Amino acid sequence: MTAVAESPAVGEVTALTVTLKILRTNPEGTADHAAGESYWEEFQVEAHATDRVLDALHKVKWDQDGSLSFRRSCAHGVCGSDAMRINGRNRLACKTLLKDLNPARPITVEPIKGLPVEKDLIVDMEPFFASYREIMPFLMTTGAAPTRERLQSPEDRARFDDTTKCIMCAACTSSCPVFWTDGQYFGPQAIVGAHRFIFDSRDEGQWDRLEILNDKAGVWKCRTAFNCTEACPRGIEVTKAISEVKRALTSGEV
Ligand code: SF4
Ligand code: F3S
Ligand code: FES
Repeated sequence: MTAVAESPAVGEVTALTVTLKILRTNPEGTADHAAGESYWEEFQVEAHATDRVLDALHKVKWDQDGSLSFRRSCAHGVCGSDAMRINGRNRLACKTLLKDLNPARPITVEPIKGLPVEKDLIVDMEPFFASYREIMPFLMTTGAAPTRERLQSPEDRARFDDTTKCIMCAACTSSCPVFWTDGQYFGPQAIVGAHRFIFDSRDEGQWDRLEILNDKAGVWKCRTAFNCTEACPRGIEVTKAISEVKRALTSGEV
């Protein structure tokens, strides 16, 4: 099927008619589909090559079918709420330009995998957040509260800089083949979240967290598939962070 009719350029930006092929699910069913049944639906959208997938989804929702459901908030790659599977790969809809997707072909949009679908592109994030809570993602200290800020050298700060960038979008965890097949695995994001505190020189709870990650649901489930690193829209070296946690466990040193 030809999905795009390329029309004359508008200024410097090419105008397109793009086909979005969206995997839909309605928990209440529709006239043609049973409750909870998933099915593909196509929409033609007038857009520009520099528009984002999020813009195209908005055009569907606002102009064609108000029942289309998806999450988004900031629209600028900060809040992490619009991770979805676009052309078979986890991405943020607000950071993905149509021109980077070969818009001459239908663009497939599906919910992220491994989490229960609630409606259309919205999944239940609670299992993901539950794993994050397990690793106690907060500074743990002993002794009296200080009267001034806790100091840290630039070198010590650099040890966990990469993992501070996480926006909790779940693109990593929901691209991990171990997470898809093993509901017990914490998943890469929880390990990234733990890494951010384990290697923070101000924190004193690192061995509590490492003990949690040494559990059968923890880091040893990782098979170094690297899907998580490839999916991360923040460019975090997720697999490297996981390997640093594994090394701390085997060496006994942080
Ligand atoms: Fe998203 Fe990257 Fe954080 Fe995973 S590590 S939740 S992909 S920002
Ligand atoms: Fe999964 Fe990433 Fe490990 S994709 S197997 S957590 S390297
Ligand atoms: Fe906030 Fe995309 S809408 S990251």
